[in-house]
Amino acid sequence: GWTAQNFIDESIERIRQQIGDGQVICGLSGGVDSSVAAALLHRAIGDQLTCIFVNNGLLRKDEAQQVVQTFQTEMHARLVAVDAVDAFLEALAGVTDPEVKRTTIGEKFIRIFEAEARKLGQVDFLAQGTLYPDVIESANRHEDDPAAKIKTHHNVGGLPKDMALQLIEPLRFLFKDEVRKVGKALGLPDQIVWRHPFPGPGLAVRVIGAITPERLDTLREVDAILIEELWASGWYQQTSQAFAVLLPVQSVGVMGDGRTYANVAAIRAVTTEDYMTADWAHLPYDLLSRVSNRIVNEVPGVNRVVYDITSKPPATIEWE
Ligand code: XMP
Repeated sequence: GWTAQNFIDESIERIRQQIGDGQVICGLSGGVDSSVAAALLHRAIGDQLTCIFVNNGLLRKDEAQQVVQTFQTEMHARLVAVDAVDAFLEALAGVTDPEVKRTTIGEKFIRIFEAEARKLGQVDFLAQGTLYPDVIESANRHEDDPAAKIKTHHNVGGLPKDMALQLIEPLRFLFKDEVRKVGKALGLPDQIVWRHPFPGPGLAVRVIGAITPERLDTLREVDAILIEELWASGWYQQTSQAFAVLLPVQSVGVMGDGRTYANVAAIRAVTTEDYMTADWAHLPYDLLSRVSNRIVNEVPGVNRVVYDITSKPPATIEWE
């Protein structure tokens, strides 16, 4: 039968044969697929692998530090961590249209990734964390299918032709549950192994309307409380995706003797197999209550929390 250890042993052999003494780059997003691909390649070829991680300022709380901690400090992988926070926030200043947010972020990412890749000198391979379902999906899909556009941002597809990189996809015959087993066997932390999918445009599509550093920080704090309580209650692994959204709405509240007029945060948690349809997660009331109390008590500027009880369809998973 299939075991993670056998898969790792066989992959290491195969990767070493394929790569020879070539150089490999890998875009790390902090998600499970690219992390497992990078960890596996590092086992196989060590310093012939360079990971590139772009901090776009749109990640969740502590996520950037965790990538550096895991891959650089613990694994001793070669990691280029690019602080592009200001560049992304400048490009996004005043942008409210979700599709403009997406294309702005996608283009900026490709440009920065390409520039970093070029700095490395000779590179022969580009590693990607493509899984079996991604392979099937893209085989069945026309390029002009609007759904095909959605996923373009987190795949590093747009590298320049003149770099002539060969693709290496060590996970392309695995399903998600197998990838998690491999990640665990490679010693990756649970927070990475079990991490929910996160959109390429990140928190930019969860701060509804204009993006500011302050609103991103507020959302990060709200989201971190939700995620912490989901882990603590055992619900993180029973949901497929869970996150907070900062709404462009102010609502009235009371605090002490005074009135407040502050932000509304929405909580979204869903269960799904394929992300094409999804059910809202029936989280226990006491959990929702704890999350709500903590948010309004601990996060300045948020005085109301609502829970999204809409399935997909007709709603989508993200709010914009
Ligand atoms: P929706 O909101 O369309 O989301 O129901 C389905 C899945 O796709 C993710 N998503 C994105 N992923 N770039 C991405 O990489 C995007 O622009 C994007 N928009 C949505 C969403 O988080 C969910 O997992």
